[in-house]
Order: sequence, then C-alpha cells, then structure tokens
Amino acid sequence: MRRLLWGILVLALLAVACQPAATPTPTPAPAAQLPNLGGRELRIASDTTYPPFEFVDPKTNEIVGFDVDLVNEICKLINCKPTIISTAWEGIFAGLEQKQFDLAASGITITEERKQKFDFSDSYLRYGQVVLVRADEERIKSKDDLKDKIVGVQIGTTNEETAKTLVADEAKQLKRYDTFDLAVRALLAKDVDAVVIDSPAADGFMAQNPGKLKIAGQPFTSEDLGLCFPKGSDLVGPFNAALKVLKENGTLDRLYRKWFVEFKPGQ
Ligand code: ARG
Repeated sequence: MRRLLWGILVLALLAVACQPAATPTPTPAPAAQLPNLGGRELRIASDTTYPPFEFVDPKTNEIVGFDVDLVNEICKLINCKPTIISTAWEGIFAGLEQKQFDLAASGITITEERKQKFDFSDSYLRYGQVVLVRADEERIKSKDDLKDKIVGVQIGTTNEETAKTLVADEAKQLKRYDTFDLAVRALLAKDVDAVVIDSPAADGFMAQNPGKLKIAGQPFTSEDLGLCFPKGSDLVGPFNAALKVLKENGTLDRLYRKWFVEFKPGQ
C-alpha cells in the first residue's frame, strides 16, 4: 500500500514537473520611441562630386544621391530639417571642427584617426576599395599591378592612404586631386593609369561614363561608412536610433537598391 502511495506521489510530482511552463503574459514591445528634434534645422556638409553618394543631377541641378536620401529619411523619423551644403572635401573636416556644420554626409569612412577628432554614427555601409581603369586597359589586372603605374586619388581620403602602399614611388606615381571627379577625368584623359576608389563610387562613375571604365580585380579592403559629427554632438544618439529603424524596416535596403544597383544616369 505504502509503495503504491509513494508511486502515486512520484507520478503526481512528475506530472507537475512536466507541465509546459506557463506562458508568461507577453509584455508588448514599447513602440519605438524615437527622439524628436522639434524641427531642428541641420547644416550638412557634403562634397557633392561623388556619385552615387552625392552629386549634382545635371537634369535638375539638384544635389541627389544615397547620402542625401539617407539624411532625409533619418530626419523624417526624428523631426529635423536637413540642408545639404556643398563643401570641398578638406573643408568638411575643418568646418566640422569649428562647428560650422552639424554633421557631414559624404561617403566618409570611419577610421581610428578620424575618431580622435570626430564622432561617427553607426556604420550604414560596408564596402571595399577597388582599382578603376579604362575599359581597354590590359596591363592592370589587380592592385598588385600598380607598383610602376601612375595612380590618381582624391586627396585626404582613405583611398590616398591605400594607394600610397601600392605604388613603388609615391612622389612620382601618386597624383592627388581635389575631387574624385577630377581623378576620373584624368584617368579618361590618360593622365593616370588607374584610380583607387571605394567600390560603390567606382560603380557610380562607371554609370556616368558608360562603356569607358572597368574595375580591375576584386575589392581588397573592408571599411565602414558613417555620418560624421563634431565631437560631443547631441545628434549621434538620435541619428543612430533612426538608422536602426531604417535598417530594420527595409528602407536602407531600398536605398541601396536605388543607388547601388539601379542607378544609371541618362536613362
Ligand atoms: N570613403 C573615403 C574616405 O572617407 C572617400 C570618401 C570621399 N567622399 C567624397 N564625397 N568625395 O576617405
């Protein structure tokens, strides 16, 4: 009898133990609480000679591109009014330091060196640098063929840093231009043999010059782009919060498709 009772007890305990755990009452996720900047006007520096990130649409004379759409979408979410201010590349960083601009959106790579002086948003794009050459180029098949070639870059970019390591004699072989647009023109004019450039921008310039340019080899670095702010800016948090929403709701993917896949000027 005792055994039987014990047996029943054990079974009862097991039955309780094996009950599926009571489903906790689901706590609804708080609706994404995005900061509200109250319609704040933002001065955004950008070197607008850099398709498809930022460039002047020849048909409308308006500044358009991925970065332009990106800051517009962010401002829609956190209630700000962005104005893009066309600025020379080097002037962007000087202007940020003097707080002439609230931020810069200009295909800027997040680097340790820049992080000493500026704050960055989270990454909005990861890409690699490539070697851009004329379509009929046969000597250059990859970055390793640049040792004895003339290479063009935009001054003050991560691409300049990279190109320095690829040529044998920097003083003789590296040509620095104020914009990538000028570097690409020099390439087409045969003043340089190759341009070291971010892969999405290489695609942008190929789209602008159909049939005239090609990429030699594969992307050979990996870097992240971010929006760049004066140190201590109160905008970094709100911008990151908005960026997160744009990543999650597919907006960023839509902008990638629009500017990095479908962008073909003149069509
Ligand atoms: N990503 C490179 C850098 O940060 C090049 C960016 C150039 N951008 C431009 N708008 N020209 O150095």
